[in-house]
Amino acid sequence: VSSAFDFAGNLFPLSSTTGTGGYAPIGAPTSAARPGGGLGGGSLEKYKTLTYLNGLSLIIGLIIGSGIFSSPSQVSSKVGSPGAALIVWIVAGILAWTGAASYAELGGAIPLNGGAQVYLAKTFGEMVGFLFTWVAVLVLKPGSGAIIAIIMGEYFVRAIIGAEAETINPWVNKSVALVGLAVVTFLNCVSTRVGTRVNDLLMVLKFVALLGVTITGIVVAITGYSFKDGDQKGMSWKAEDWFNDTSSDLSNWAVALYGGLWAFDGWDNTNYVVGEFRNPSRDLPRVIHTAMPMVILSYVLANIAYFLVLPLDLINKSNTVAVMFGSKVFGKVGALIMALLVSSSCFGALNSSTFTSGRLVYVAGKEGYLPSIFGRIGAHNDDDHGMSTQRTRGWVTKKVRGCFGDDDVGLFYTPIYALILNGALTAGYCVVGEFSTLVTFYGVAGYTFYFITVLGLIILRVKEPQLERPYKTWITTPIIFCCVSVFLFSRAVFAQPVQTLAVVAFVVAGIPVYFWRIRGRDQVRRKEGDGGERTWWKFWR
Ligand code: ARG
Repeated sequence: VSSAFDFAGNLFPLSSTTGTGGYAPIGAPTSAARPGGGLGGGSLEKYKTLTYLNGLSLIIGLIIGSGIFSSPSQVSSKVGSPGAALIVWIVAGILAWTGAASYAELGGAIPLNGGAQVYLAKTFGEMVGFLFTWVAVLVLKPGSGAIIAIIMGEYFVRAIIGAEAETINPWVNKSVALVGLAVVTFLNCVSTRVGTRVNDLLMVLKFVALLGVTITGIVVAITGYSFKDGDQKGMSWKAEDWFNDTSSDLSNWAVALYGGLWAFDGWDNTNYVVGEFRNPSRDLPRVIHTAMPMVILSYVLANIAYFLVLPLDLINKSNTVAVMFGSKVFGKVGALIMALLVSSSCFGALNSSTFTSGRLVYVAGKEGYLPSIFGRIGAHNDDDHGMSTQRTRGWVTKKVRGCFGDDDVGLFYTPIYALILNGALTAGYCVVGEFSTLVTFYGVAGYTFYFITVLGLIILRVKEPQLERPYKTWITTPIIFCCVSVFLFSRAVFAQPVQTLAVVAFVVAGIPVYFWRIRGRDQVRRKEGDGGERTWWKFWR
């Protein structure tokens, strides 16, 4: 039986300065995880701290973000009817679930931190892993940050000026989004601990918001309560109503599906920290198979509630469905409360997302994928690599445990250059993009790599049948995921040709960059052993 640990030592044979520290449990000495250092021994066990419940709160907190409060309009306006919209939500949820189950198999077989990058490098070679990082650093992370920031801005502005205002200049929202982004980036630069506790609280608020929506919807449905001044109400229980005007254009369905998938996105995030789990082969699948059905159920219920309370045309035009909902049921106060709940939920999501992005960019800097400055820590010089790496990587563990360990972590002891790069890119996407275009763009780019990764699972089953797989999904799971992803992609080409082409062009542009970066990196390392002292050009290496 071969084990993924053999592979960990061979993955980047030349990156001896960085080791494979990024793949080992957070907090473990980097040397222990270096090539040849052996990951298999029991010596690393004490660094593995995550339990089942930690994983569950991590993934649920990440998934429930902006989407369920804002995507419903994108879904229902594209497919035309509430019934069709609900089908899209269920399909999106199941698709995310099959993806997550496939990732659970990969995570069990290759129990290292790093997620898709590691699985891709294992199956297809380092170049594909690099291309994933390339797209994630330049498109996925800043793109998703921008979406969350924009929604945060919209809800915040609604909270201030009131839900009823018909048109708001988008630049007002965007300015708020940019200010929020600057604040979050700055806080992350100052200290890794700022805001992590707040996030746990925000997770509770998210559930409160969703549960509130659901219960209200149910009450409205049962009592037939109609609102003041004879307002029109949402859907009745009659089946014809629910499927009137359903779109028969498959491309519209694909765009709608991307809207739903955004709300479910984040299901791959436990895979970034698999190495941290005490018992990954048991807990990772358990986390996925509890979290996904919970999220699917709560999203479907919330959507039904929206449709029962709000008229369809109101839902279709609004990016801020939850505010409409609050104002319709509880008037001004309801709207204000919903707006504040959702914008703070987005603030939390933006904070987590900024944090993980900083880490990803930082590791890319360390691996030589990006100029080395992005692999540096703010307050300390380069002698400090080992320490800094451990400290900054410790955040997930600390966050999840709800305790922050050592208090001697100084200010600006963070990957500030990485964070600034990420902040600048995110701001760029905020300025040029708007919610539904960005969601499709993100979906096309993200699902391309999810697809390749899950395809890799199928290929690994054939190529390395003897690889130890503590958890095996039914083979239908990855196959379903791959088929639907291919359908989505092929339809996106028709529905949003420019965006799809931009994504493809972007991935292809990464290939020459790969050869440039890797050749430079390997030359430096061969010549100097570790690239210790920096000349101006090595600075850019
Ligand atoms: N599902 C989240 C939302 O509804 C978005 C998650 C973004 N993805 C991520 N990896 N942070 O807002």
